Amino acid sequence: MRNNRHIMIAGNWKEHLTVAQASIYLNRLEEHVKTHQGIEVVLLPNVLALQPLSVQLDRRKFRLGAQDGYYMDAGAYTGEVSMAMLRELVHYVLVGHSERRHIFMEDDALASKKVQAAVRNGIMPILCVGETLQERLAGETNQILHNQIAAGLQHLTSREVGASVIAYEPVWAIGTGEYAKPEQVSKAIDFIRKQVEHLYGTRASENLRILYGGSVDDHNINAYLDIDGCDGALVGGASLNFHKFSEIVESAYRAQQKRTMRRN
Ligand code: PGA
Repeated sequence: MRNNRHIMIAGNWKEHLTVAQASIYLNRLEEHVKTHQGIEVVLLPNVLALQPLSVQLDRRKFRLGAQDGYYMDAGAYTGEVSMAMLRELVHYVLVGHSERRHIFMEDDALASKKVQAAVRNGIMPILCVGETLQERLAGETNQILHNQIAAGLQHLTSREVGASVIAYEPVWAIGTGEYAKPEQVSKAIDFIRKQVEHLYGTRASENLRILYGGSVDDHNINAYLDIDGCDGALVGGASLNFHKFSEIVESAYRAQQKRTMRRN
């Protein structure tokens, strides 16, 4: 069976832009990013900006995602925003981003609960996985990826896994400008897809989208989109620059057209 996956570009704004700044920036993006069929462009602003941007945004161009969400739908969890609250506003939610794992000490068990809560609430999880530099140097990359995937996706059905997204983000490449070589990304993506096939079957592994993330910009994006099995990118720093981000989206559109032509 031939896969039918659409390329996704997701812009993770992290803890940048106030509500007012986010609105101005979205205006800029809407001027620069063209409406394209066949690819998906997702914006991940801070949680406060989600509501106003959801009203402002051109739905033909963008979808919204949250950078995080809590797994209990409601209750005495001071400071948290649940997936049940996010569901009215977003299509996607990041789970287990390396900054959550390393700064806020989130582990695989928490990631798994968040993934389940997202799916239960009709939000597609983007599960972030990736090794640290130390783990890569110790030859532990595959083991880490295996653990994060097996734990993060546990309790999902094959169909739910197929509808999910995994972002391969080597920790050493995030926000450092030191992006991973396409060969390294290709190997990791193949490994991830094989693991998913092994755990959830061929259909899930063919439908699941796998993104690369880590210092992606308008200059290196094409090398990643050329990788067989790479379905797009999770972009941090470069998503805050409308020139760079709109170039990245254009590259994704061209890559999608090539893929569609090859499939037909
Ligand atoms: P970066 O961030 O593009 O700034 O490296 C990527 C991410 O954290 O998702």
